[in-house]
This record gives sequence, structure tokens and C-alpha cells, in this order.
Amino acid sequence: MRMQTVRGTSDILPEDQRYWNFIFNVINSSAEINGFEKIETPIIEYLGLFEKGTGETTEVVSKQMFEVKRLSNEPSDDKEKQVLRPEITPGIVRAYLNHGMNQWPQPVQVFSIGPCFRYEKPQAGRYRQFWQGDFESFGTDDPATDARMISLAWGIIKDLRIRNVKLEINTIGCSNCRSQVLDSLTNYFSKKKAILCKDCLSRYNKNPLRILDCKKVNCQKATKDMIPMKDQVCEHCQDHFSQVIDFLKDSNVPYSISNNLVRGFDYYTRTIFEIGLKSDIKRQSTLLGGGRYDNLIETYGGRPTPAIGFGFGIERIINIIKRQKIKVEIAEKTQVFVAQLGEDAKRKALTILEWLKTEGISARAALSKNTLKSQLKMADKLKAEYAIIIGQREFLDGTAIIRSMNEGIQEVVDQEKLMDKLKEKLHLK
Ligand code: HAM
Repeated sequence: MRMQTVRGTSDILPEDQRYWNFIFNVINSSAEINGFEKIETPIIEYLGLFEKGTGETTEVVSKQMFEVKRLSNEPSDDKEKQVLRPEITPGIVRAYLNHGMNQWPQPVQVFSIGPCFRYEKPQAGRYRQFWQGDFESFGTDDPATDARMISLAWGIIKDLRIRNVKLEINTIGCSNCRSQVLDSLTNYFSKKKAILCKDCLSRYNKNPLRILDCKKVNCQKATKDMIPMKDQVCEHCQDHFSQVIDFLKDSNVPYSISNNLVRGFDYYTRTIFEIGLKSDIKRQSTLLGGGRYDNLIETYGGRPTPAIGFGFGIERIINIIKRQKIKVEIAEKTQVFVAQLGEDAKRKALTILEWLKTEGISARAALSKNTLKSQLKMADKLKAEYAIIIGQREFLDGTAIIRSMNEGIQEVVDQEKLMDKLKEKLHLK
């Protein structure tokens, strides 16, 4: 008998390693640029972590969990069921609490890459073992943070050079307005029950929000006259969402508000978002999904701490990279390193990185490093030809310093002329 892989799992062969390396490279450099540090949590966790967090009645927890069979001679105080993680977020939140990360300077920004397990019916883009990349930010509910996380997610997909993608966002309210939103949805769907599918009739009783996400044509029709979620949530959430949108507009991230976007886990509050292919109208193979989860840390026994994050499926991304025939060479050379000093300068550095990307100039930064010395050391290590330096002074007077890394010569230029000057120096014009 020939041995087979377990259903819904697959081998990653040598010929495919370049795709994985390409994606890991994009993840690591996005993390470095945006000041996210790596964390790894176990693949095996207690079932309670997901029941409490992801949600006992969610499909992932109620139907798709791989339970770990254990021997009967375990100590009597460790009888709680153990499972393979279906997602990374709850493990990271547990670690945040276990290691007192709430005492660290906030926001705490971490990322992780690793396998997850869901007992799904295997089909294209849906596996029982799959890898996720995951980014989480703890400690702030500033709408600018939502926009920054969404823009980071969009940047990763763009750095992977995936085409024909769309970003959808929505708000689903907070713990103060959720029950009022659910009441109003129950009221609305009470008149549509005749056309709802069997699953949605059960959702109607348990959590009518989930009806919005149903792919069945009649259920979609049933949601058509509904008041958009962004107008149903409380004033505070409305204000938060409109600020997120303003920030997104400022950062030129193309978004669309989708009233039917709800996401399938219990922990989400306020802003939620997904990135998928434009052609995937029914959202059946979303590439990336995330949102705010301001109550989860409290649910796990911590002090109220707002948080937001996103995860993306690496196999799904590889499928598209292959389908779109995207070249996966890893850029070896760093042409420009962007160094910054101070909060304002950090934001400007992100804009400059965007400009460089648009011009096709390979650039790196390390926003988590706070001294110029450590940043220039890194620029040296990467063999960058030039460093752009922005401090508080440059931020205020609209200039930037260009430093030739080989010669150590520095020149001050207006930010408006920065790209032209750099292109000249790099012989790109
Ligand atoms: P999720 O939407 O369940 O969110 O999963 C994120 C991504 O994982 C999906 O967009 C998809 O690309 C991939 N994925 C999910 N299930 C499968 C599967 N069976 N086979 C292949 N790929 C799959 C989360 O897991 C949240 N933890 C995201 C998050 C982080 N929210 C806040 N922080």
C-alpha cells in the first residue's frame, strides 16, 4: 500500500520553496519597516482558549477543531481538552497576558508565521493544514492605528505584486451598541424569515449578524434593504469609523465599504476588513482578513486593552502568485535606507518608503530602531547606496538629508525634490 498525505494536507516540495521564501521575505521586511517583532506560540492550545475567544458557536470552533487525543495517565489537574490551533490570534493574546506585555510600552506590535488546522471539506484554497501570516497590535484604539494596520495589510499584498485585488471594510459596533444592533437586525429579518435558508434561520436565533455573510442568493436578497451597519452602530463607533476612512483616504489605500462584511469570529468589534480577488464576488477564497478585537483581552481575564490585527493564508497567496505568473525573485540589493528620529519623522518615513516603492527603488527601514547610529549600522549591513535621514528638524522644515553610505557625504534637500535628486544619484534618469 502506498502511503498518502492526510486529506487536506500537502508536501511543500523543493521546487516550491522559492514561493515560500519570497513571501517570508516580504513578511519579514514589512514587519521590520513597521516595527513588528516576531512571536511564536505553540500549535497545541487548550480548547477553552478558542471557545472563549474565537467563539463556541462559530463554525471554526464547533465543527472544524482537531482535538489532540491524549493518554489517560495525565495528571488529574490537566484534563482540559487540547486542540491544534485553527488560527494564531488567541495564542498571541494569551501570550500577551502570560508574559505581562501590558507592562511594555504600548502599542505592542508582533507578528507570527505558522501552520493552522481546520477540519474543513478540502477543496481548492481550503485545506486542513495551512499556513498563516499574522500581525497584531495591542494597546491603542486610535482610528489612525486601524488605518495603519489596513494600509500595512494592503502593502503586503501589493509587495507580493498580486493584481486585481480589492479591500473591503465595515464596522460592526462595540460592546455598548452590539445588543441594540442585534435587536434591530432581528426585527428586520423577522419579516424575511420565509426566504432565509435553514442555516440562517438558526443564525437568526443565535446571531443574526452572521446572516449578512451567507452566500445563498435568497439570503443575500434578504439583506438588500437593511440599514448599512455603519449607520446602525452607536455614535461613538460611527465617529471612529469615519476617522478610519479619513485616514485611509490620506494614505491613498483604495477601499470600499461593504455592508455585508461581518467576519466569522465572536471577538471582532468595530473595524473589520478583508482583501480578496476582485473576481471572488462571494468572498469564498479571501486572501486576508482582520479587524479590531477590543474586548478579547478582558474576556481572557486581562485589563481592558484595545487590539487589532489581521491574518492571511500563505497557500492561497501562492496559488494566486502561480496563477498570475508573478516573478518571485528576491530583491538582493537595497538601494536606499530610510532612517528616522521621532514620531512625526517616522510617519514621514513611511510616506517616503511609499514614494520609493512607486519609483521602483528598493528601500528598507527599521522603524522600531530609535537611534540614528543603530539605523545607519543596519543601512551599512544591507549595503545600501544611500540613506535618507528625517529627524524632527527635517520634518518641520520639509527637508530630508541624503547620505552617501560609501562616502559619508550628506546633502540637505527639499522633500519635494527628494525623489528627483535620488533618481539622479542612482542614475535612474
Ligand atoms: P480568517 O479570516 O479565519 O482570520 O483567516 C485568515 C486567512 O487564512 C484567510 O483569509 C485565508 O486566506 C486563510 N485561511 C483560512 N482558512 C483556510 C483554509 N482552510 N485553507 C487555507 N487557507 C485558509 C483569522 O484567522 C484571524 N485570526 C485573523 C485576525 C488576526 N484577526 C485579527 N487578528
